[in-house]
Amino acid sequence: MKIIRSLQALTTWRNRWQREGVTIGCVPTMGALHDGHRTLIRAARVQCDALVVSILVNPTQFGPTEDLAKYPRPIAKDRALCREEGVDVCFEPTATSMYPGGFQTVVSVPALARRWEGHVRPHHFAGVATVVTKLFSLIRPHRAWFGQKDFQQAALVQRLVKDLNLGVDIIVRTTVREADGLAMSSRNVYLSAEDRATATILYAGLQAGAAAIRQGTRDGKAIQERMTAVILSHPSASVDYLAVCDPVSLEPLVRVAGRIVLLGAIRLGRVRLIDNLIVQAR
Ligand code: PAJ
Repeated sequence: MKIIRSLQALTTWRNRWQREGVTIGCVPTMGALHDGHRTLIRAARVQCDALVVSILVNPTQFGPTEDLAKYPRPIAKDRALCREEGVDVCFEPTATSMYPGGFQTVVSVPALARRWEGHVRPHHFAGVATVVTKLFSLIRPHRAWFGQKDFQQAALVQRLVKDLNLGVDIIVRTTVREADGLAMSSRNVYLSAEDRATATILYAGLQAGAAAIRQGTRDGKAIQERMTAVILSHPSASVDYLAVCDPVSLEPLVRVAGRIVLLGAIRLGRVRLIDNLIVQAR
């Protein structure tokens, strides 16, 4: 496996692959890789010839009071995982090479970025959209893998690829969970032992919403209230949002019909957890 830090060296590799006509795949990450990332990398490995995993704790998607400085950066472990999974190139650009002095362009996907995560984290999705566009223009992958775990992010990336004719096939893989249902996340390490035990309530709340739909509830507000009741039954948890949404526009639904997504974000102490569930109403 090649570890590449410079944008120029990455371009050289990509140009060689392009000349050889190989299929290029990429899995963008911020490192602190866990089994969720591993699943994406494994899926990618068998569906492309040259596989690039990018690792960049992207500063532009963090708010001023967020965890940029303390975000975990176990780079040796991350490289080992990439090596184990047969990654060809681990692309580790520095923040300054990605955002040199004078950098000012921003990619914005306003309607999809407005609600939910975007409401709580106002500049987050502009940062994500911009870095993903940059990674795609550097790597020029044929295919790229994203996790359903970050549902709004995946929807936004699909939209931007379409809108900007980037020609990258986006593949979204289902969320990988711990045995007790908690969605794997690089930020789970921030949870205290007590909050870690409580953290399963987010998935439980979403499942309660899905159960209500299966039992025939179609009223969006009633489903939302059902999910909220599960979360608030635990005194240390607070709700950022719990929503019943259209899976493409992410607009909230008054009535449920067909395929929908339940989106949720809660706080346990100072840790935010997000999760989602796709439900097919029959
Ligand atoms: P990061 O949080 O490192 O996630 C990288 C990819 O792994 C994302 O597509 C994310 O949805 C996916 N992922 C995370 N947890 C997962 C889980 N439990 N199951 C399945 N997939 C999971 O998302 C980012 O980085 C950044 O915003 C990025 C897209 C790299 C742009 O900076």
